[in-house]
Amino acid sequence: MSKDKVQIFDTTLRDGEQVPGCKLDTKQKLVIAERLDNLGVDVIEAGFPVSSPGDFKSVEEISKIVKNATVCGLTRAVRKDIEVAAAALKYAKIPRIHTGIGTSDSHILHKFKSDRNAIIERAIDAVSYAKTFVEDVEFYAEDAGRTDNEFLARVCEAVIKAGATVLNIPDTTGYCLPDEYGAKIKYLKENVKGIHKAILSCHCHNDLGLATANSIAGVINGARQIECTINGIGERAGNTSLEEVVMILRQHPNLNLDTNINSKLLYSTSQMVSQKMGMMVQPNKAIVGANAFAHSSGIHQDGVIKNRETYEIIDPEDVGVNESSIVLTARSGRAALAYRAKKVGYELTKVQLDDVYKEFLKFADRKKEVLDDDIHEIIVASNLNIES
Ligand code: KIV
Ligand code: ZN
Repeated sequence: MSKDKVQIFDTTLRDGEQVPGCKLDTKQKLVIAERLDNLGVDVIEAGFPVSSPGDFKSVEEISKIVKNATVCGLTRAVRKDIEVAAAALKYAKIPRIHTGIGTSDSHILHKFKSDRNAIIERAIDAVSYAKTFVEDVEFYAEDAGRTDNEFLARVCEAVIKAGATVLNIPDTTGYCLPDEYGAKIKYLKENVKGIHKAILSCHCHNDLGLATANSIAGVINGARQIECTINGIGERAGNTSLEEVVMILRQHPNLNLDTNINSKLLYSTSQMVSQKMGMMVQPNKAIVGANAFAHSSGIHQDGVIKNRETYEIIDPEDVGVNESSIVLTARSGRAALAYRAKKVGYELTKVQLDDVYKEFLKFADRKKEVLDDDIHEIIVASNLNIES
């Protein structure tokens, strides 16, 4: 049975770039946009054109070079924003305007000092106006995570009537639990008239570390687009991480969902974004962190050397990492030492290995990690006359 496609909407260059101190210039954004296009993302959110002349230019230039993906520009529910976004997207092969407004009581009361009916009117006006420029209009209900479901359904119904093709349901503050977010998507699927005319989209923030889990709960319950960033970068604790959702869907075929992403480019794309933004990837980051395929304790190393699948659920090559690494530390066992010694040219007998292992432990207690050069030193120090 063929799998249902989940669209990947990459917002590295918009929500991701909102990370303090990580501003990119147009040239850097173009390189990243080209890579995202090759990676296979379906939509590239290139920026927020009205926010600055630099962002306008970036969206305009990205629109010119992207070959496959839809190029999207963000706006508020403000006519001027929409006009500027439409102008920036003029050269895009497939343009999308992403417009919207806050729908939670907190946003309506404190941000807009307005009421629910007036918010619906603004939402309808923004979508109808955007529709006069482009066919593809995505509507975001900001803070949908804390918006009551009945009102959210009314908003969705109204914007679908006005022509919205995608309904973005952001958990803007990263507050929802996966069950709650999944139930929200299910409620909209079941209660919004005309929902078959639009795609529901998950846009989750990571304030409680739940962005990925919430996005997956969303697609399990009927959403068909995930908004995410490379390395999960973004405001505060970040957005849903692209590499995580892609690999979760791939590693769980029984969900019957997949994306168009070429996963072999995930690691190099993560490195590229990290370097351009000057933002390191935490070593224990799932999928793309330096330790994601590194094994350091004796029990795990022994298992992985016998059969990779004992402690690895992903083949590192599938995400563009050459091979898993066996890291030598004071917690490593004989199997790991023999394996690494063999890689640098020493085939040790069982008796030799016992002697070298004693020397190794003394060395490893002094050092955090034992490297290839150290192995030569340890073998010399064990006085066994072993030649490589
Ligand atoms: O988190 C959010 O609500 C957003 C919207 C502007 C889409 O980024
Ligand atoms: Zn966001």
